[in-house]
Amino acid sequence: MYEYEIRPESMKRIGTPELAERFIEEQVSAVRARVGGGKVLLALSGGVDSSVCAALIYRAIGSRLICVHVNHGLLRKGEPEQVCRVFSETFPVNLVYVDAVDRFLDKLAGVSDPEQKRKIIGKEFIDVFAEEARKLSGVDFLAQGTIYPDILESKGVKAHHNVGGLPADLKFELVEPVKFLYKDEVRVVGKALGLPDGMVFRQPFPGPGLGVRCIGAITRDRLEALREADAIVREEIGALPEVPWQYFCAIPDIRSTGIKFVDGRGVRYMGWAVVIRAVNTVDAVTATVPEIPYAVLCRIRDRIIATVPGVNRVLWDISEKPLATIEWE
Ligand code: XMP
Repeated sequence: MYEYEIRPESMKRIGTPELAERFIEEQVSAVRARVGGGKVLLALSGGVDSSVCAALIYRAIGSRLICVHVNHGLLRKGEPEQVCRVFSETFPVNLVYVDAVDRFLDKLAGVSDPEQKRKIIGKEFIDVFAEEARKLSGVDFLAQGTIYPDILESKGVKAHHNVGGLPADLKFELVEPVKFLYKDEVRVVGKALGLPDGMVFRQPFPGPGLGVRCIGAITRDRLEALREADAIVREEIGALPEVPWQYFCAIPDIRSTGIKFVDGRGVRYMGWAVVIRAVNTVDAVTATVPEIPYAVLCRIRDRIIATVPGVNRVLWDISEKPLATIEWE
């Protein structure tokens, strides 16, 4: 059973590179003392928490850190590549890359209920990770990028991107070097460790990833269209002087009529509509919709229509939370 732990009162808020360096040194010593000559296993999603955790433990024990990156096919454009690049070049951990795309998408085929989709993704993730863990020998420690809000909110169980419920035959001692940090502190530490800004300042991304943004039953072609449209939305909105808290794309499971002109004749056909979503929030309990300059919305529309196959309509979701949730499902 996970013990509920309290951040020590004496712990200073880590807001400067100097404090981050001191924290890193302390944690590097603590990890070395704990792990000795042993090996540590970590599920590396590429999110801020697991990436910072990996970079920190790498500094302590080098390639005795084994990171498993599961590509479930629901990551955003370029993410698996970035994880592989950063954790083989800048932090050359012992990286196991698992291409589980077919496995996840086959399991999800025909499933339209959002909670069912979440369950399948969560269970499959544990299964894939457990299979990889069983192939390894001499690993006594499991690292998790648990952060302090995870402990406060769920008494230590980080359901979505950390491995909470491993099968009973897999027994590890937990190593959680950032467990007393708040998100902003994790970012300061990540920057001090030398992680790229694209990773350190990444917007929140749900564990089930694009799986809950490809509304209804996921199909490969619609998922691909979503991934491409989402990359355009992130690039355009991410370049604004004030970047919203979360901004992404969703693709409903509807087809709408479009028209193409072929040899001067209008030909009707059915295509998908994609939805641009951008929100500001403090704690994700309520959310408002920021103004996006109309010229930017039009540029997003033009780029998506010109380059993403199958999409013929671009919508902007101006719904606030409540009543709408941030994600579409
Ligand atoms: P909602 O849609 O509930 O989202 O307004 C609030 C925040 O939670 C994120 N979210 C998730 N994160 N697993 C996650 O790790 C999930 O299943 C999940 N669903 C929503 C969402 O992106 C937003 O930041």
